[in-house]
Amino acid sequence: MTDTTITPALGPLTGEVRLPTDKSISHRAVLVAAMAEGESDLVGVLDSADVHATLTAVQALGADIVLLSAGSRGLRVRVTGWGAAGPAAPSGPIDCGNSGTTARLLMGVLAGWPIEVTLTGDESLSRRPMERVAAPLRAMGADIQTAEGGTLPVRIRGGALRGTIHVLPVASAQVKTALLLAGLRAEGRTVVTEPAASRDHTERMLPVFGVPVERDGLTAAVSGPTLPGGTIVVVPADPSSAAFMCAAASLVPGSEVIMPGVSLNPGRAGFVAVLRRMGADITIEEPLTMGEEPTATLIARHGRPLCGTTVVADEVPALIDEVPVLALVATQAEGVTRFEGIGELRVKESDRLELVSAGLRKLGAHVEIGSDWLEVHGPCALHGATLSASGDHRLAMMWAVAGLIAEGATVIEGFEVIDVSYPAFADDLQRLRGEAWPF
Ligand code: S3P
Repeated sequence: MTDTTITPALGPLTGEVRLPTDKSISHRAVLVAAMAEGESDLVGVLDSADVHATLTAVQALGADIVLLSAGSRGLRVRVTGWGAAGPAAPSGPIDCGNSGTTARLLMGVLAGWPIEVTLTGDESLSRRPMERVAAPLRAMGADIQTAEGGTLPVRIRGGALRGTIHVLPVASAQVKTALLLAGLRAEGRTVVTEPAASRDHTERMLPVFGVPVERDGLTAAVSGPTLPGGTIVVVPADPSSAAFMCAAASLVPGSEVIMPGVSLNPGRAGFVAVLRRMGADITIEEPLTMGEEPTATLIARHGRPLCGTTVVADEVPALIDEVPVLALVATQAEGVTRFEGIGELRVKESDRLELVSAGLRKLGAHVEIGSDWLEVHGPCALHGATLSASGDHRLAMMWAVAGLIAEGATVIEGFEVIDVSYPAFADDLQRLRGEAWPF
């Protein structure tokens, strides 16, 4: 385990940052290209541990992956999908590592094929709920067994699927996507209705692969059986990674951070609206549609004093991964910031509700939580402490941003977990600080 020490920023964070490309879109591009008949060129696939889990998985299932180039804008890969021939039985279990998206989306991909596959994952992933995907896939006709407690390892024996109407109890893009991908192999219409809008990358991407998606409000449907065809996908920068830099710029006096080409999918951009409501200075420039995804340059500047806000349950799906870093920003805001309907945070890479509040308290913040809410009473001067990343990439980066404004040193244990989504995070922060790293 690697410990990293962060000392307070001595001056503003300034400059342009080439953020990593989007994790959610990268997983989907690799999986749909693997299912497709023919070749796909994927430009800007995120070069991180989570996406490598997906790349390795589809290779084990028979897709051909050629790495054309690797650079600061991610990987350029050519994928030849298994198409109508279907995936090959892998030689052993498929290890999804830390990646919930890999495990859950693969369950949908495999549900319609007559091979037996076992999915495993690391300690964190092995605690996360899988029945939310397994149960509706069973209703479509797949034979899926989860371990006791509804977790990994999961054994899937796919079969003939029938299109089914699903009404999801929780807004989850992973569940929605797994069901739509299974729907490509099902006879008839597979219809998914969510209780609130989650990220719609899958609905935007499938038509690029030649698969129509019917959409009506919170409902998306595909008609099967159908086969995606090879195409080109260009992956924009990841808004969830941008959120850490937006938070840092909002907290460190004098900062100005420019982030080009960030996905502003409506199911992801909720944090921008919340930061603005808190008084943060975030501007959106150069809007451009990349493939089917809206993107823009984000510019985050340190501005006027921040104030508290209430984030209501309906807003949460569009900022679910950003609640931790928004809670950190709230420690510097005047008044109460309240997040409602955030129970899902308890089943992410860690119990983020519990660990965010415990860590912020350790830094000196005034935080209260309930079963599905969190309240921060600000502003509060933070002091450095030793905090664990707890195997959660977003906690590691959140504590690093906290370290920029906390008095004294902040030590983060297990910092290497940033490799899951943003391997160059420390280097990018160093460049923006214009100081040497580590201190
Ligand atoms: C993701 C959806 C969200 C999010 C996760 C990535 C996706 O999870 O938290 O980081 O790529 O579909 P849920 O679907 O569980 O809400």
